[in-house]
Amino acid sequence: MSLDTLERAQASRQSFEIRPFGGPLGAEIVGLDLNLPVADDELATLRRAFVKHGVVVFRDQRITPEQHIAFSRRFGPLQVHVLNRFHLHGHPEILIVSNVVEDGKPIGLVDAGADWHSDLSYMPKPSLGALLHSQELPAERGDTLYANTANAYDTLPAEVKKLLEGKRAVHSYVYRYERLRKLSPWRAELTQKQIDEVPPVEHPVITTHPESGRKILFVSEGFTSHIVGIPRDESDALLKELHAHITRPENVYTHKWQPHDMVFWDNRSTQHYAAITPQHLRRTLYRTTVEGDVPR
Ligand code: SIN
Repeated sequence: MSLDTLERAQASRQSFEIRPFGGPLGAEIVGLDLNLPVADDELATLRRAFVKHGVVVFRDQRITPEQHIAFSRRFGPLQVHVLNRFHLHGHPEILIVSNVVEDGKPIGLVDAGADWHSDLSYMPKPSLGALLHSQELPAERGDTLYANTANAYDTLPAEVKKLLEGKRAVHSYVYRYERLRKLSPWRAELTQKQIDEVPPVEHPVITTHPESGRKILFVSEGFTSHIVGIPRDESDALLKELHAHITRPENVYTHKWQPHDMVFWDNRSTQHYAAITPQHLRRTLYRTTVEGDVPR
């Protein structure tokens, strides 16, 4: 490395700290400014923290959508959401999550987090992680809750682990969409093209996290329609039990948003939920979604 390159590399270094929240998951990254270059080894440190803690929070990031996209891409290819009407104009990689209505039309997906889920688990390659950047926040409410699905697996009774071994479950975008459509009048009928883009997929109920090696309970209230090979009523009852187990309060971190927060969560080892914020409490966030591997 030439002296000039070395000096530039050193000048671009940032010193940051990883402060775990001390609960079931989550850590804050203190002292990193996403406006400044992030070196490859710094990125590797961030990635290790992300895998270890499941959710990492970067405070006060005054970055543009272009910077948000560029930073997200360093973790893998980005996935474009099937609901194209809520893409940020000129940036299809960003999904707008918002309860704001302009000219009688929602500007974003108001109920993106209305039940517990892992993003895009309905894809053959579900999401590795999502980066959600706050744009406008209400003075009250609007929290996002995260559950640790690796701990959820670890704390299952041995006989339930045994029962789930080798089982597969169906994840379906349309299944969730139609359920939420009954509650959200703005959810228009999906076009045939959209339906064709997201056919139901099967994934193992117990997966192994490709980076941590931990076992994960990979079924969710949102997208898992049923467990394959058992009667539907038994599957419904089992999923209900597993959902209650995943979301026990001691397994959940509640994120209270601060202005310009960027939250990056691991969709392979967490699930999240955000109740719909009433329309008068304006809440808008931008989300990118990084593609992961086929779950195994
Ligand atoms: C999401 O599920 O991506 C949205 C979460 C939120 O609104 O906080």
